[in-house]
Amino acid sequence: MRPPASPSGGLEVRGLGHAFARDEVLAGIDFQVRAGEVLALVGPSGCGKTTLLHLAAGLLSVQLGEVDNRFATTAFMFQQPRLLPWKSALDNIALGLKAAGIGRGERHRRARSLALRLGLAPHDLDKFPHQLSGGMQSRVALARALVLAPELLLLDEPFSALDVGLKEELYRLLLAHQRERGMGVLMITHDLMEAVRLSDAILVMAPAPGRIVARFELAHPAAARDDAWVYRHTAELLQAAAVRDSFGLPAAAGGALAALGGRGGARLRVVGEPAAGHAGLTPSDLRVLAPSAPPHGAAAGKRCGI
Ligand SMILES: Nc1ncnc2c1ncn2[C@@H]1O[C@H](COP(=O)(O)OP(=O)(O)O)[C@@H](O)[C@H]1O
Ligand SMILES: [Mg+2]
Repeated sequence: MRPPASPSGGLEVRGLGHAFARDEVLAGIDFQVRAGEVLALVGPSGCGKTTLLHLAAGLLSVQLGEVDNRFATTAFMFQQPRLLPWKSALDNIALGLKAAGIGRGERHRRARSLALRLGLAPHDLDKFPHQLSGGMQSRVALARALVLAPELLLLDEPFSALDVGLKEELYRLLLAHQRERGMGVLMITHDLMEAVRLSDAILVMAPAPGRIVARFELAHPAAARDDAWVYRHTAELLQAAAVRDSFGLPAAAGGALAALGGRGGARLRVVGEPAAGHAGLTPSDLRVLAPSAPPHGAAAGKRCGI
């Protein structure tokens, strides 16, 4: 019997599989996102991340397994800003509020207040998308998602085309908003550093078909992570066998992490990685909590590596 719905919401994905015609794209996907949690799904291009997010968002019909979204409101931010070219920045941000039946004055007030918080200038708000830089368009797209006060935010690599300074600023703004509102976030990315910067836990996907092969938990709060912490733990992730296999990298050379001077204090916990994959990692940097995930096929319908 299913447990009663949590009052604070949650997204639960169970035994999810998907095929386009005869191409199996996803198999045996299981995970949860709770309120206030940032979960990153990382994997190489083409492994099915966008398909998975579209299934979670209800933009694609579920063929196999279940997607149970108990969050009251969900917003989606795409890889491209996807702004309506004939509407001003302010009207683009307010679009979802209009669809929700909120009057013009109130939706403009909310859209303006959030836009200014996200670093847009008042005179930008009357501009049309073609008059905005790529960075400003991304701010508009983030504001359009956040203005709905979603309980769950789904992110499909929305920061991948931005420069490093702008990325950092939007990360900070996103995390501040997320903490303030206790929002759940499911973000997909192929950028390991972005995942280490933002998330509470990272699921690693492997391709053909897309499946989850490892879970990493980052205990240190995202707001307290400095550059050194992020670089060190991204380097640790890159040493993990599941990550290397997934991205098609050759096996890690022993001692590579030791050469980085790993001080970590067990802040990156690894679940579902074979111990043999950690040659060269000191126990204080990476803790292996579970044996290897079962091979694909045996994994269908089970929690992979968790
Ligand atoms: N609408 C579609 N029709 C047919 N194949 C698709 C469709 N969308 C995605 N695919 C295929 O599914 C696989 C996974 O794609 P996608 O989910 O976009 O991966 P990712 O986001 O990880 O790059 C790819 O092989 C892609 O070509
Ligand atoms: Mg994609």
